[in-house]
Amino acid sequence: MPNAKAKMTLGVNIDHIAVLREARKINDPDPLMALAICAQSGADQITIHLREDRRHIHDEDARRIIASSSLPVNLECAIDPAIIEIVCGLHPHRATLVPEKRQEVTTEGGLDVVGQFDAISLAINKLKEREIEVSLFIDPTREAIEYCERLGTQWVELHTGSYANVYAMLNSALPHSHHAIEALRLSRSELDDRLEQSYSDVVDAANYARSLGLKVAAGHGLNYQNVSPIVEIDTIEELNIGQSIIARSVFTGLSQAIKDMKTLCQR
Ligand code: PXP
Repeated sequence: MPNAKAKMTLGVNIDHIAVLREARKINDPDPLMALAICAQSGADQITIHLREDRRHIHDEDARRIIASSSLPVNLECAIDPAIIEIVCGLHPHRATLVPEKRQEVTTEGGLDVVGQFDAISLAINKLKEREIEVSLFIDPTREAIEYCERLGTQWVELHTGSYANVYAMLNSALPHSHHAIEALRLSRSELDDRLEQSYSDVVDAANYARSLGLKVAAGHGLNYQNVSPIVEIDTIEELNIGQSIIARSVFTGLSQAIKDMKTLCQR
């Protein structure tokens, strides 16, 4: 019998629910409400990012989510010692260390595992002492993976942002998106080459990491259009996806939300 393909697991990043809440600074929508829906709908993991500026998820959200989730919680965080201390106290199933810049809209690149080797090593040791599994969010390069192996992380999460950006440039239906504007400067064949390169970087990094015994996740910018080629990469066992799922849910879930409100509006 041919070997069945290994299962791909899905972590759903629910930060974006808190982004909506923070737009009004009230307690609605509460990201905690997503936990049961995620579990019932086939999600394998809840992913949240406790940013240093607390722009969406707050410490109390993280505490309640970790305490209540039936699924493992993957907590993304910076390597800052004060944050690592908090994460140790929260005790999620896994901590994914990510680079953070206050001005960025979202995580723009992988960790600098070479330049910040010592600081990352310190963070990993603290987390491991508390028996928290560790993942490092990195750009898909062999050099980064070699350093991850030396750092003794169990997981790497490959940043798929470059792949997703080029994919969007080639397929963008939105004429004013920054992808479309950048795409104007490149020919179709340059874009095709870039897409092939960014995809093969992910394939190569995943295979290399797996060959060194690391578990491999991937994420950032994955959506309903671009995810299938990534799912085909056998050595990746987990995807973490947020923006596109929550964005779609605004539309696929909106109909029921309106019907519920309409029912309440009946005299
Ligand atoms: N993985 C990591 C490490 C991230 O920082 C993010 C963004 O918070 C994601 C996955 C999810 O990215 P997206 O929201 O683009 O799906």
